[in-house]
Amino acid sequence: MIVLGIESSCDETGVAVVKDGTKILSNLVASSLKLHSRHGGVVPEIASRIQLESIAGLFAQALNEAKIKAGQIDLVAVTTHPGLPGSLIVGVSFAKALALALGKPLLGINHIHSHIYANLLGNNKAKLPAAALVVSGGHTSLFYIKDFSDIRVLGQTRDDACGEAFDKVAKIMGLGYPGGPLIEKIAKDGDRHKIKFACSGTDGELDFSFSGIKTAVLYYFKDKKPSLKLKKDLAASFQESAVNVLVRKSLLACKKKKVKNLLIGGGVAANRTLRQKFTQAAKEQGIKCFFPEINLCMDNAAMVAGFAGALYKRGVRNDLNLNM
Ligand code: KG4
Ligand code: ZN
Repeated sequence: MIVLGIESSCDETGVAVVKDGTKILSNLVASSLKLHSRHGGVVPEIASRIQLESIAGLFAQALNEAKIKAGQIDLVAVTTHPGLPGSLIVGVSFAKALALALGKPLLGINHIHSHIYANLLGNNKAKLPAAALVVSGGHTSLFYIKDFSDIRVLGQTRDDACGEAFDKVAKIMGLGYPGGPLIEKIAKDGDRHKIKFACSGTDGELDFSFSGIKTAVLYYFKDKKPSLKLKKDLAASFQESAVNVLVRKSLLACKKKKVKNLLIGGGVAANRTLRQKFTQAAKEQGIKCFFPEINLCMDNAAMVAGFAGALYKRGVRNDLNLNM
């Protein structure tokens, strides 16, 4: 089965072709990131305007790279939620028009769930049942997955998402946007034990809170002379605390649900320190930890197409009344 996937939930426009739920034939992502960086965050109006301009060209290119004709598409899949309304509507409108024109079925996809499915793309063979952590710029949530058509929330952030905290800390330090990769880069030479930052407690033991740690960095930074050395230590110390809480709660979720597989997804899962810490801590508890390939951690349409293929196989259906 050949699925065309469309992803336009934030600043990216993604179009991909995936065969039989796992084999990526093409996966294109156009980003308007450069246009947002001087504003220190995504400007929704800019994002949706660029998405509108680029989606048709990306569609043509995705077919070309996959070496298929539009008539060979069996299913059109699109991210419907959550995301920026003005951005989602570009993808959803394009997908509806395409499904109608081709006379093919249409499936709407939950963006957060598709980040987990990225663990099944390519050669990655994640196993179920599993606990899953989605850690991105907009979300930090833990799930229990018996099957991909049965995904249940175990906990989530009560305030900032983890990626958002990386972005805000980078902004406080004047590093730029998006902050995650920039923090990771300077943290490499920093002392992760230099400053003790603690994430705030939460009522739900599988919930998260990242706004307190971001504020702690702000106050720490404000009162000091920001030398490069201090920035490196701050970045390393912040990353250490943020990753430690993700690891601790994810392993607790595995224990509570009695599962031996842990699937991680979302932009922050590209962080190499996070990947190392998760792998090591999980191993110590006899848990197998899975991550998508680095380029499939960030927003992309291959995860949308793959996930849609899996859901369609399980009998999930939508029609042209599909909405965001
Ligand atoms: O999944 P994603 O592309 O978009 C959302 O659905 O939000 O995630 C983007 C987030 C941003 O906050 C970005 O700073 C963070 O992922 N990120 C990272 C890294 N690469 C991207 N955070 C930490 N370390 C990284 N290497
Ligand atoms: Zn995302």
